[in-house]
Amino acid sequence: MVRSVFHRRPVVIANWKMYLGAAESVRAAHAIRRLTARLAGRDAEIVLCPCFPVLAEVRGALVGSRLQLGAQELHHEPSGPYTGDVSANQLRGLIRYVVVGHSERRRFHGETDEMVARKVQQALRAGFSPIICVGETTEEREEEKTIAKVRRQVEIVVRELSRLSLSRCLFAYEPVWAISAGPGMEGPQPDPAEAAHLMRLVRKVAADRIGSSAAERVRVLYGGSVTAKTVRPFVSEPGVDGVLVGGASTKPAEFAAIVREVVAACRS
Ligand code: 13P
Repeated sequence: MVRSVFHRRPVVIANWKMYLGAAESVRAAHAIRRLTARLAGRDAEIVLCPCFPVLAEVRGALVGSRLQLGAQELHHEPSGPYTGDVSANQLRGLIRYVVVGHSERRRFHGETDEMVARKVQQALRAGFSPIICVGETTEEREEEKTIAKVRRQVEIVVRELSRLSLSRCLFAYEPVWAISAGPGMEGPQPDPAEAAHLMRLVRKVAADRIGSSAAERVRVLYGGSVTAKTVRPFVSEPGVDGVLVGGASTKPAEFAAIVREVVAACRS
């Protein structure tokens, strides 16, 4: 019997960051397609987020499969003099999901909560499902500011959203200190119960905006050094809908093993 906590189909997202080249991305997409063929779309929503230059090619590799394509980022304006940036309009017809507010964008590109909120609006207007990343830094954790930080990050995004728009959003709780420095380099991990507590807070902030039954439709994921060995306790917690995977998602066999673990947790 399917556990009630997984009435939302689990979601497993590969964020390939700036790791894979063009040929490697296409090869990885084909391999993941083959390795997850029996589970994709039916038992889990699987989303691949390659770098911008290979989106079209990876899209080609996924045609006829149930895997979905996502981008890692978009600009908060629809168009304009922003050299090197990519707008929602330019991504139309290519993707279904887009990561916004990743801590690496906030840290290395100075993205603010307000910019993230505008990116979410752009994504929704273009018909995409934004994957909104939130999470505290090491210092904020040490200063016991985690709850206030995560609450604020979510509040700024949700305050402008309607019930319909918010139900199309996904949130990923990614404690910044738990994110790995690269494939095969796991960082420290939070206690799964503690992480789940933060994920319930995310849903609670959404519920304060759109009501608790509508907020049940919002999917909330965990991210940070997830591997096939470590993922199970996170997705076994009530209210956790899946994972956002960085380094480990660049290895097709490992990523497929993560998908199997998530689906197994969903069925147990
Ligand atoms: P890692 O899985 O490499 O820690 O990355 C997590 C992440 O940032 C996904 O967006």
